[in-house]
Amino acid sequence: MARRSMLDYDLEHPPASYLRLAMEKVLTLYNTSIGKKAVMALTGLVLFGFVIGHCLGNLQVYLGPNPFNKYAAGLKELGALLWAVRGGLLIVFVLHVVTAFQLALATRRARPERYKVKPPEVASTYASQTMFWTGPLLLLFVLYHLAHFTYPGLAFADYRHSTHNVYGNVVNGFSVPWVSSLYIASQMVLGVHLYHGAWSLLQSVGISNTLKNERWRSAAQALALAIVVANITIPLAVVFGLVR
Ligand code: HEM
Repeated sequence: MARRSMLDYDLEHPPASYLRLAMEKVLTLYNTSIGKKAVMALTGLVLFGFVIGHCLGNLQVYLGPNPFNKYAAGLKELGALLWAVRGGLLIVFVLHVVTAFQLALATRRARPERYKVKPPEVASTYASQTMFWTGPLLLLFVLYHLAHFTYPGLAFADYRHSTHNVYGNVVNGFSVPWVSSLYIASQMVLGVHLYHGAWSLLQSVGISNTLKNERWRSAAQALALAIVVANITIPLAVVFGLVR
């Protein structure tokens, strides 16, 4: 079949045809392995940005109940903008998860026999293997986390979840040993996922120089570690009574 150009479409049915052609091109690219990896990298970058922003927001818990609750209320006051950001994040998150499953399936189909002795080149896929167990665990964590702090909101002992007292919700949740342990373990899983995610993103954009490579790897490691440590301090601060 002869290839069609933008001009052909323009002469036939402008401008809806431009949109259709653009959609066709996006879908054709998405159906390739490179296209899927690009989607993983881009959506991963957006989610990474969210995790950094969320972590900085959460650290305001150290300012005390009033500033932290004011910060949470300020976010809710954004109204339509907040819902637009939530919707965008949800689309990005779903794309990231669905594309990850598709890539995992394609890899499995391409290699139906399991290795008895792993050849050396398989070591390089270690990072992507960790992504496929840390990914589903993080998905479970996010589902629990949303149920805990957002909707319907969980409360322990005789405390009642309150959308106005987010500080109280955090202190109440992390006062329960299994909840704080779950969060601490999940943040470690997040660290592994972020580190390998950042690393494979850097490889996708073609960082090849060995010295630079090492620097980027260290930067990815440091950023993932900083987020994990900062997040873990919050349940620990509640457990040790520094935040109460
Ligand atoms: C110890 C670490 C964390 C703490 C203390 C924490 C705390 C919170 C709190 C208190 C809320 C509710 C905010 C409100 O009602 O205004 C919330 C919402 C949320 N958290 Fe976290 N979080 C942590 C880690 C994470 C991580 C690692 C992720 C993602 C991988 C995440 C994703 C979300 C999402 C998607 C929401 C919903 C935001 C919204 O309602 O628009 N959180 N978090």
